[in-house]
Parts: sequence; C-alpha cells; structure tokens
Amino acid sequence: MTNLSDRLTRRRVLKTGALTSGALLAGCIGTDLGGSLQSSDGFPEPEYGDPDRTYRLTATESTIAVSETETHDGWTYNGQYPGPELRATEGERVRVVVENDLPAETTVHWHGMAVDGDNAMDGVPGLTQPPIEPGEEFVYEFDAEPAGTHWYHSHVGLQLDRELLGPLIVEEREPHVEYDTEATLVLDDYRSAEPRVEYANSRRGGMGGMGGMGGGGFPEAPPADGTLVNGQPPTEPTHVDVAEGDRIRLRLINAAAATTYEVGIDDHELVVTHSDGPAVDPVAVDTLELGMGERYDVVVEATSPGRWPIRVSPVGSTTPAGLAVLDYDASGGELSTGSIGPRQLRLSDLDSVASLDPYQGRPDRTIDLTLSGGPMGGDEWTINGQAYPDADSIRIESGEHVRFRMRNQSPMRHPMHLHGHHFRVGNALKDTVTVPGHMGSVTVDFIAENPGQWLFHCHHLYHMDTGMARSVRYPE
Ligand code: C2O
Ligand code: CU
Repeated sequence: MTNLSDRLTRRRVLKTGALTSGALLAGCIGTDLGGSLQSSDGFPEPEYGDPDRTYRLTATESTIAVSETETHDGWTYNGQYPGPELRATEGERVRVVVENDLPAETTVHWHGMAVDGDNAMDGVPGLTQPPIEPGEEFVYEFDAEPAGTHWYHSHVGLQLDRELLGPLIVEEREPHVEYDTEATLVLDDYRSAEPRVEYANSRRGGMGGMGGMGGGGFPEAPPADGTLVNGQPPTEPTHVDVAEGDRIRLRLINAAAATTYEVGIDDHELVVTHSDGPAVDPVAVDTLELGMGERYDVVVEATSPGRWPIRVSPVGSTTPAGLAVLDYDASGGELSTGSIGPRQLRLSDLDSVASLDPYQGRPDRTIDLTLSGGPMGGDEWTINGQAYPDADSIRIESGEHVRFRMRNQSPMRHPMHLHGHHFRVGNALKDTVTVPGHMGSVTVDFIAENPGQWLFHCHHLYHMDTGMARSVRYPE
C-alpha cells in the first residue's frame, strides 16, 4: 500500500500524460499502469483526491409502486426509484460512497463517464474491482467528464432489472444551445417476476432453424409488464411543468434492461442537441429511438399551451407504452392530443460539435466483431463465438486509433456500449450504439488514450449476462 500523496502524484502524472501524444503515452504511461498501479489482487489501484462533491448511495431492498394498486419488490439506491439524481459541473471531482445494504454483492458503474485515468472506479466486478460484499462500502471517485446526460447503475448480474439505477448529470460550463428549463426523464421497463434468463425458442432470421433442438433458443428477458417514466406508470404520469414560450431541455435516458423506446410529443418538434452526452449541431425531428443505455438531449419549444403527451413507445414489443406530460395549461384540463410527424432521427443526422480530427484517417488497428447467438443449443450470446467471461480480451495499444467493425448475425438488435471512451459513429460521438438485427453492421472508431481494462458489451442486460461482452485491455 502506498500513501495517499504518493498515489495522488501518480494520478496527476497519469492525467497529464493522457493529454500528450500517443507515442509518449505508449512509452511512459504504459509501464506505469502495467506495474505500480496494479494492486496486489490484480485489480487497478483506487486513488483518491480532493473531491468537489460527495454523494452517498445506499443500495437497499425496497418496495416500488408500479401503479396505483400494485407494488413490486425491487432494489434501489437510498430507497428511491429512480435513484437520486447526481449532479456535478464539468471537470469537478466527484466522490460517491456506495454502501451495500443488499443481501447480495454489488458494484456501481458510471455510464458515460470517461473515469479518465481511474479504471479502478469503473465498477465492473471481476475486471476493475472485487464486488462490494453485503454490509461493506466502496468509495468511488472520478472527474465529471465529459459533460452531458449520463447515468449510474449496478453492474452485477441482473441487478439493473431490479431497478438499481439513477441519473448522473454533468452540466457543461458553456452550453452550445439556449434553454429556459430542463427535466430528466428516465425511461424503464419493469417485470413483476424475478429477473431471470428465459429462452426464446425461435431462430427467425436464417440461423438454420436449430433453435428447437435440445430445448435451446436465444436467451432473452421475460416479457416486460410495463413502461415507467421517472418511476411513474402512464396512469399517474410525471408532469414536466413549463410556461408558454419556454424552451425545455429534456434529458432522455433509456435505463431499461431489455426495451428499445421511441419517443415523441404530440404537436411538438424535438430539437436534438446531445447524443450520449457530447453536443451535436441541433437537428429537428419528430421522434427518436433510444436503445438500452443510450441518451439524447432534446430542446422542445412550448408554443401551443396544453397538456401534451410525451409518448414512450416500446419498439418491436407489445409492452404497454409509457407516458409523461408536458404541461402548460393552467386550467388543468384533459390531456391534449395531436399528431406526431414522420421525421425519425437517423444516426446520419448527427454532427458532433467537438472536432472529429482525432478520428480522421486510417485506423492503426481494425477489429471485426461478429455478434451472434451461441452455436447449436443457443444458450448464450457471443462476440466472435466466445461468451464472456470465458472470452479473450481485446488487446490494443495505448495511443492507437482503433476501429471496431460490428456485424450482427442475429435477428435481435444489440445496443453495444464501450466503457471509458466515447467513440465516433457516423459524425457523432457516442458511447452506446444499436447494431440493427438481420446482418446489420455498425463501425465505430475510438482513440486508446485511457489505459485500463474496459468492458465492451451489449446493454441488453440479458444478452450481457449470457455472454455478449468482452474486455478491451491496454497496455499489456
Ligand atoms: Cu451502462 Cu457496462 O454499462
Ligand atoms: Cu444484445
């Protein structure tokens, strides 16, 4: 064990190094992380600084109301669902003390945070830390970067589907768009049954009809019972109260375990301003889709008073839709209804405000990744035929421009998420992107400038839990 100031010094070194060229990174930081930052148990060493903000989250068993008459047993942070909104300003140091009051081990992952130089704070059990045992606590600390709409959730097993999740908002120092008010909307599916993997005995989509053999099939989530927005069912929707003329920034987070959503508001346009945190040139659409783990910020102009439905519709599923209300009708009448236009956001509509120069040119390394269901029995989801944790690490080198070419051999869509990095996809920077089913393909590029072991996985919780994940590791 080194003392705190020693560890602090090394942390500063690491962070300064990350700003320099790839060559220097590979030479200097590489040996550092490979050696002294590794603690004796093989996990990266947590290092603590001087936080600007400190939060406390207690993971605990709770009762969650899913309608006026129905509750179900869930697990929450601080007894709240969604968990408390954590906020910081870009660049601040954030400390979160996580106490485990559950009957099971747990960890917390800060989805969207680069945790730059702080691999030990990434919250992946078995990769970046040992899980937090019941009755124990773990202190997380990271820099609030990049700015944007992010979230936090348990990264153990199927705990996300017990509702261990909450929003994490990093305010930008200088927003590139103007707005008057803002609201965070956490979109989630819920199941009244205990979370458990089920096997869909179907191999639609040219997998050779082997699904019937041996009782196998694609591992899937049990069907969801409903859609909640900020924990509220459509019968008691959450209200976003605004004044006529306001511009409202809505921060949309798909925190569902296994549901893609389409979002639209009757008679209102959505001006998309941010994708998974980073700013994009504003683009007006009528609807957008969010895969599990994805976030979009949109600005809506309140120009026609009423109580307008913000509709949250599951895509490719019969789960009932969720609802929130954009409310600027003082008389408190009925829900207004109108129509939603046909313009749906496409990835190609997004243009990053930050320069994409680092991602220009030929990549130093290109890796082909085939997403599919397991062979024969189909009891797992795989990347290049391997199921995590019995899977090779993806090895790259510090400073490289890396390209992942993903190809989906299964009929299901897979929202793929990379920890510790944003990647370029099209002309946007994101950390989660949905690879469409039936031979869909998506290419992403990222720069290896945050050494460590980072999980790359499908954010469909039940796909991740049955193997669709890899660690990305550098340096050696
Ligand atoms: Cu949102 Cu690996 O997680
Ligand atoms: Cu998947």
